[in-house]
Amino acid sequence: MKKIFFLAVLVGAMSVAPSLVMSSEVGPETIDMKAEFKVEGAKQAVIFPHRQHQAKLACGKCHQSPQGGDDLIVEFVNKTGSGNDFHKKFCWPCHVEMEVPKGKSCSTCHK
Ligand code: HEC
Ligand code: HEC
Ligand code: HEC
Repeated sequence: MKKIFFLAVLVGAMSVAPSLVMSSEVGPETIDMKAEFKVEGAKQAVIFPHRQHQAKLACGKCHQSPQGGDDLIVEFVNKTGSGNDFHKKFCWPCHVEMEVPKGKSCSTCHK
């Protein structure tokens, strides 16, 4: 019985998937921030969970356009060291404002 239920869920998910792919405007599920913004440094790439953020936040919280996509609300100029603009101007202020648990802990973003 469990198997049949699982199959039904799987088929259901498969029929939903194409419509998600077709609306390309949602952007990627996750984003390798190091590669995307050509950051140099010894730390492992931060993989930003884009889809998870979309589920909780309006696109305009991060993108200039309320529909999302295109430019972000910040430009990353300083990309080195711990005082970089990702921390100071983007990820950290919102995590503090929204009281994300361990939102400034290194291991939350750097795995
Ligand atoms: C909310 C997410 C987040 C947290 C928390 C965070 N970082 Fe980062 N960090 C980033 C992002 C995004 C980048 C830029 C992309 C990348 O390097 O992958 C970055 C880049 C860096 C860089 C520059 C790149 C490099 O490889 O040298 C250093 C150094 C760094 N972080 C150190 C830290 C330290 C130390 C902590 C804990 C105090 C920390 N980070 C916490 C998101 C975070
Ligand atoms: C918490 C911040 C955040 C939120 C909220 C967010 N995004 Fe993004 N989004 C990003 C980041 C960071 C990137 C990667 C940077 C880039 O591609 O310019 C990105 C990239 C994208 C891209 C790819 C753009 C490109 O040039 O390749 C699309 C499309 C996109 N987002 C759409 C959306 C939509 C639609 C929403 C709302 C439903 C949304 N985003 C919400 C942070 C966010
Ligand atoms: C505009 C607000 C906002 C910005 C900007 C933002 N975040 Fe977040 N972030 C959140 C919220 C809200 C949560 C809690 C989401 C949840 O509970 O599902 C979160 C949670 C996370 C988590 C934890 C996910 C988990 O499964 O526990 C990671 C990792 C993360 N963010 C990385 C980043 C990185 C990296 C950046 C910058 C590139 C960033 N965030 C920028 C609002 C933001």
